[in-house]
Amino acid sequence: MDNILTSNDKVVQKSTGSNVAGPANQKSKEDSTSHGSFGTAKNANSQSSITSLPQKRKASEDESECPAKKVDLEEGHGSKVAAHYNDLQESGLHARSQSRIFYLRNFNNWMKSALIGEFVDKVRQRKKNITVLDLGCGKGGDLLKWKKGRIDKLVCTDIADVSVKQCEHRYFEMKARSRNEHVYEAEFVTADTTKELLSKKYSNPDIRFDICSCQFVYHYSFETYEQADMMLRNACEMLHPGGYFIGTTPNSFELVKRLEASDTDSFGNDVYTVQFQEKGNYPLFGCKYDFNLEGVVNVPEFLVYFPVVVEMAKKYQMKLVYKKTFLEFFEEKVKNDEPKMLLKKMQALERYPAAPNSKLASKKPEDYDHAKKIVDSGPAKSPLGTLSMSEWEAASIYLLFAFEKQP
Ligand SMILES: C[S@@+](CC[C@H](N)C(=O)[O-])C[C@H]1O[C@@H](n2cnc3c(N)ncnc32)[C@H](O)[C@@H]1O
Repeated sequence: MDNILTSNDKVVQKSTGSNVAGPANQKSKEDSTSHGSFGTAKNANSQSSITSLPQKRKASEDESECPAKKVDLEEGHGSKVAAHYNDLQESGLHARSQSRIFYLRNFNNWMKSALIGEFVDKVRQRKKNITVLDLGCGKGGDLLKWKKGRIDKLVCTDIADVSVKQCEHRYFEMKARSRNEHVYEAEFVTADTTKELLSKKYSNPDIRFDICSCQFVYHYSFETYEQADMMLRNACEMLHPGGYFIGTTPNSFELVKRLEASDTDSFGNDVYTVQFQEKGNYPLFGCKYDFNLEGVVNVPEFLVYFPVVVEMAKKYQMKLVYKKTFLEFFEEKVKNDEPKMLLKKMQALERYPAAPNSKLASKKPEDYDHAKKIVDSGPAKSPLGTLSMSEWEAASIYLLFAFEKQP
């Protein structure tokens, strides 16, 4: 796929020379409000040739398993989180491919792939054997990414014991399938990483990591300072100097901005909603909200005020390398061929217009106004790769971060 269009709005020059349509510029993103007017496509000079997007939805094996399920909001939080994730059924490939947020899930998964790939490459420049901690591994949605990164050792840890078992099972299945390829060694630990010290649970107490990856997890720790600090300690204390703590988490600025622009204590669209308990009062810790994806209540999360994380991380000799919104990171990565190819392989963008005999993910035509404008404007050759506007609005809640351990 060569023509890529995000929520809108400017055309960026791909490093190899051809054009791609990139996301909203910073100003328009800052100006966007709760219901997410990220602007509309206004300039499409793309002349590049087009490789068609896949026509059929093929659910990726290497997919994060974070679907939603109704939970009792009054239970203790840690056990509630574990019960919630333990109870999640892995939906089959067919069910996943039929989901309204099929492309959003793939897009989020691609984000993780690009982030993980970037930091594995950085470490590999200076050493051969790479050891990784996957903190909040879930059912093992990233196992294949680590295989692709040719790491040597992976420690997977999560609060949800059933998820850890499924992760382990998936690891051995992957290993069995890869008889002629090198697959890293792995170890599996069940623990509440906001309350327990992981270093006491590793088979080798002297283990050191090159990367700690914490994907869509760190926000669960922001219930109290002590929990946020413990998760940070677990993420960082066993890193080698020069090692990285990388991850993805909701962007509190984006959440609060959208909340403040809403008339109620909630905001969202037909694919996601966020419900706060109260508007205008945002404690640094314990600021709880419910995040609903595809219409079902998920387990409550906590607002992560990122400047606090940056300060807290100094205690563990961690320095912020970068913090980027999903849109900033996406815009940057699609300029390069390899992540761009991966977008296609992972079906992380939807083809617009839909292929003959196929339907778009959203039934609302206005969800594709941004793409239609580009296609109608002529110079861009269709089909484009994009997401429905509702999915862009959900994806743009998140940020990626990377910290480096100082000597
Ligand atoms: C949204 S899922 C992400 C899973 C995985 N990182 C991925 O990207 O596919 C969040 C995960 O965080 C885990 N989690 C939440 N609170 C945790 C805690 N206190 N300690 C360890 N894991 C936790 C959950 O059990 C769940 O597996």
